[in-house]
Amino acid sequence: MLDFAKFTKYSKPGPRYTSYPTALEFSDAYGYDEYIQKMKEQDSSRPISLYFHLPFCRNACYFCGCSVVFTSKEDKMLRYMEYLKKELEILSSVLDCKREVIQMHFGGGTPTFFSAEQLKKIIENIKSYFPNFVADAEISCEIDPRHIDEAQMKVMHEAGFNRVSFGIQDFNEKVQVAVHRVQPYEITKEAMDLARKYNMVSVNVDLIYGLPFQTLETFKETLTLALTLNPDRFAVFNYAHVPWLKKTMRKIDETTLPKADEKMQIMQYTIDFLTENGYKMVGMDHFAKPEDELFKAIEKGELHRNFQGYTTKGGADLIGVGLTSIGEGVDSYNQNFKDMTSYEEAIDEGKLPFERGVVLTQDDLIRQYVIMELMSNFKLDIQRFNKLFNIDFKTYFADAIRALKPFADENLLVLSEDSIECSETGTLLIRNIAMPFDAYMTKHAASKKTFSKTV
Ligand SMILES: C[S@@+](CC[C@H](N)C(=O)[O-])C[C@H]1O[C@@H](n2cnc3c(N)ncnc32)[C@H](O)[C@@H]1O
Ligand code: SF4
Repeated sequence: MLDFAKFTKYSKPGPRYTSYPTALEFSDAYGYDEYIQKMKEQDSSRPISLYFHLPFCRNACYFCGCSVVFTSKEDKMLRYMEYLKKELEILSSVLDCKREVIQMHFGGGTPTFFSAEQLKKIIENIKSYFPNFVADAEISCEIDPRHIDEAQMKVMHEAGFNRVSFGIQDFNEKVQVAVHRVQPYEITKEAMDLARKYNMVSVNVDLIYGLPFQTLETFKETLTLALTLNPDRFAVFNYAHVPWLKKTMRKIDETTLPKADEKMQIMQYTIDFLTENGYKMVGMDHFAKPEDELFKAIEKGELHRNFQGYTTKGGADLIGVGLTSIGEGVDSYNQNFKDMTSYEEAIDEGKLPFERGVVLTQDDLIRQYVIMELMSNFKLDIQRFNKLFNIDFKTYFADAIRALKPFADENLLVLSEDSIECSETGTLLIRNIAMPFDAYMTKHAASKKTFSKTV
C-alpha cells in the first residue's frame, strides 16, 4: 500500500487543462472583428465538431460547477431555442457550414429539460444549417437520469445520437442528501435500460470523488453498484470545490469533505477496481472498456483533450453555440457571453455572442502540445516533439525539467532522453506534472482563489 499521506503536499490549486492557455487567459484583447476574421479564414477542408450548451436545470446540486440557468419556466426555454436558431443563422454567414461535421455534443445544464418535441426542433434547426454530418459522426448528450423519458431517447436515437452520458455522482444516501441530489439506483438503472433499448453505442456514467461524507468504504459501494449498470465508460471526477466562483458550493460544509490522502486512496482504489473489472484508464478521470475507441486511441497514443473531455477526433475546429460555450480553432479559443442579457443583445444586433478569447502565440502552441500530450496519454515522446517543432525540448524546457526532478525522485515519472512517462501513481498527479510547462502558472501562483485543488 502506498503512503498517500506523503503525496498530500501535491494538493494545491491547479488547472484541469481542458484548454491551454486556460480560460483565465481569455480576454477582450482578442476583439470581435479579429474573431470574425479568424472564423472566416478557417480551413474548409477541416471538419467541424459542434458543441451546444443547453443550460437549464430545475434544482441546484450543491457541488455543481457547470454553467447552469435554474428555471422552471417554459417560456424561457422556448426563448432560448429562438436565440440558438438566430445564432446559427449568423454563424452561417461567417462559416462554411457545408463542411463535414464529425462530432456533436449537447452539454449543460441538463439538455433533457427540453421535451422530446423541443429537442427534435433544436436538432432539425442544427441540421438545416449543418447538413453534412458524416455517417459515423459521434453525437452525444449529457443526461440527468432523473430527467429522461422514452420519447426523448427515441428522438435522440432517430436523430443519430449514439452516445449518452449519465450523471450519477454517488449512490450513498447520506452523500446524496448533503449535495442536494437524491437519485435512487432504480432511476439510474431505468435510464440505462432506455439507452440500451435505443442502441446507444457508448454509455458513460459520471461519478465524483471528494464529496461530503464520502469515505473509501462508501465509494467502494458506489463503484460496485455503478458497475452493475455495465457502462462503456466511467468518468470519475475529482470534485472541483470553488465556492468563491459558485455560490451553491457554499452550502457544502467543508469539514465534511474527505481529506487529500483519503481522496488519493479513493482514486487509487477506483483505478484498481475498474482495471480488475475490464476497464482501462484513458486520460485523467476517465475509464473505458477495451472495445471502446477511447481505449484503442490511448493504445496508439492518439487521444486528444478538449473542452468536452477526451476524444479520438483530433484535427477538427470546435464550434460552440449557446450561452458560455467555447470554441477552438487551430490557434485560438473563443467564448460566448455568460449572462443571458448580453448573449441576447449581441444576437439582436446581428452579431455572434462572442465575449472574449485568446490567440495563441508560438510559445503557447508548443506548451499546449506538451500539456495535452501529458494530460491525454500520460507520456511525451521527446523525439517526436523535437521534430514537430524543430527545437530542442531539453533546452527549451530546462526549467520545467528541473521542476519535474522531485517527481522523478519519487517514482511518479521516468524522464529519459526520449520520453517523459508517468508511473501509475504519477497519473493521479498528472495536473501537477503538467503545471511546470504552463507559462501562466507563476502569474496565478500567489492567489489561492483561481483553480480547484489538484488532489
Ligand atoms: C452538466 S453535468 C451532467 C448532466 C446532468 N446535468 C447531470 O447532472 O446528470 C456534467 C457533469 O459534471 C460533473 N461535475 C459537475 N460539477 C462538478 C464539480 N464541481 N467537480 C467535478 N465534477 C463536476 C458531474 O459529474 C456532472 O455529471
Ligand atoms: S450537476 Fe447536472 S443536474 Fe446538477 S445542477 Fe449541475 S447541471 Fe444541473
